[in-house]
Amino acid sequence: MTLALRWSGIDLKLRERWPGILVAAALALAAGWIAGGLGDPIARNPVLVSMLLGLLLGNVFACPASLRPGLDFTKRYLLRTGIVLLGFRITVTLLSDLGLAPIMIAAVELAVVLLLVRWVAVHLFRLDPQLALLVAVGSSVCGAAAILSVASMDKGRERHAGVAIALITLAGTVALLLYPIGFLAGCMPGLDERGFGITVGASIFEQAQVYGASFAVSEGALNIATLVKLSKVVMLIPLLLVLGVMQRRQAVGEARGRVPVPWFVLAFLAVLLFNSVVTVHPQVRATILQGDQFLFLMVMIALGLTTPLKPLVGSGGLRLVAAGIFALLTSAAVAYVLVRANQGTSAVVPSAAASSIPSGQGARLFNAVGCAKCHVPSLRGINGDVPLYSDLLLHDMGSALDDKITQGQASGAEWRTTPLIGTRLRDRYLHDGRAASLRDAVLEHGGEGEIVRRRFFELDEDEQKAVFAFVASL
Ligand code: HEC
Repeated sequence: MTLALRWSGIDLKLRERWPGILVAAALALAAGWIAGGLGDPIARNPVLVSMLLGLLLGNVFACPASLRPGLDFTKRYLLRTGIVLLGFRITVTLLSDLGLAPIMIAAVELAVVLLLVRWVAVHLFRLDPQLALLVAVGSSVCGAAAILSVASMDKGRERHAGVAIALITLAGTVALLLYPIGFLAGCMPGLDERGFGITVGASIFEQAQVYGASFAVSEGALNIATLVKLSKVVMLIPLLLVLGVMQRRQAVGEARGRVPVPWFVLAFLAVLLFNSVVTVHPQVRATILQGDQFLFLMVMIALGLTTPLKPLVGSGGLRLVAAGIFALLTSAAVAYVLVRANQGTSAVVPSAAASSIPSGQGARLFNAVGCAKCHVPSLRGINGDVPLYSDLLLHDMGSALDDKITQGQASGAEWRTTPLIGTRLRDRYLHDGRAASLRDAVLEHGGEGEIVRRRFFELDEDEQKAVFAFVASL
């Protein structure tokens, strides 16, 4: 094929794809904007809003065929790019700090849920065995990505992928809603934030849903949940190999399928290693992670737009829904039991990682309302972690703190986050010492700090006091 021909092929694909990609991007922007306007806890869950918006639009107005190529591209390639970029969240140090236990929990969870859900879906709910396998893979490994990988190995399986993804995405969306509500309402006794993060990472299906459910509780839970989930994404590699070998054995004589290598998982590992060795500038890293979140919003929109809810209400829909509910409950129950059992044993010998994170209500709320977004508890330094309670970045803090003086590149309203370490030694706060109390200091937070400030003053009196006591102890 000549270069010109090949080029026109690419050009044609681009022309086919851009409408879908643009629509996904525009709707993702809209979803972020709607989520921001709805206030907490939804403001922290734009992922959920994207999914619901996509589902609503896709099912009310049938999704136009011209958008399909772009939406499929988004679901496939932008999702993979998103997963690869997740590597910037993780370092080898973080993984080894996480310890073996959560990864073991994730592995056991995967095996138990995979086998149990498949067996029950075939024998009790009488689903087609191939569909049952996809539902089991989706609920035990990593949602749509895993379903697509396993489905693409076999033609007879591929046609079930849409229904399996719809079911798993919906069940996962229910989980995304119920987990944080359940945790914050105290329905998961015995779990701390770390345990919650592990439970979410080990049992919720989609990366984006894991993201939403754990971030709704705190950034700490998000990090642990992401790590655990990603360790499961890595487990997709051996699973695909095992399934591939089984398939080759069965396919006697016929064209034997290739064993597909999930390249994006390898790319993700490469980014992870890169991020462990090279210290990326925090601002650059933050920008990448923001872009990454936007990719996930686009993927959620694309998934929603192309997920027909009809198969779930049509004939056989009841058995499908039952299988979905079963998958949801099994994965939640298995993860919860494993995490509880593990907490029971590790409570005797607290791990080093757990004991270095200050616990207590004040610290928890400090994270939960979002103070820790700017006052980051610790930054990675050359000689290990430095507990600063600052990201050392400039933030636009709104008109109340605007002194109209421009310093270097900082406008009048821009201030560098004051490290809160050493607050116990200070008695006046903010850049000009205008605040005599911590309460006054927080009251002055506007601009980028506005949402967090409002969230903070929605806490009740005792909770606010707990945060002040925590800050004053630093
Ligand atoms: C958007 C980023 C941001 C968020 C979110 C934020 N802060 Fe700040 N904080 C800052 C910046 C920037 C300053 C410095 C402002 C100045 O000096 O005028 C500051 C200053 C402070 C100070 C004064 C420290 C001193 O010694 O001068 C306290 C106390 C404080 N923040 C507590 C909090 C608490 C509690 C929360 C959560 C409710 C919070 N901050 C959320 C950015 C943020």
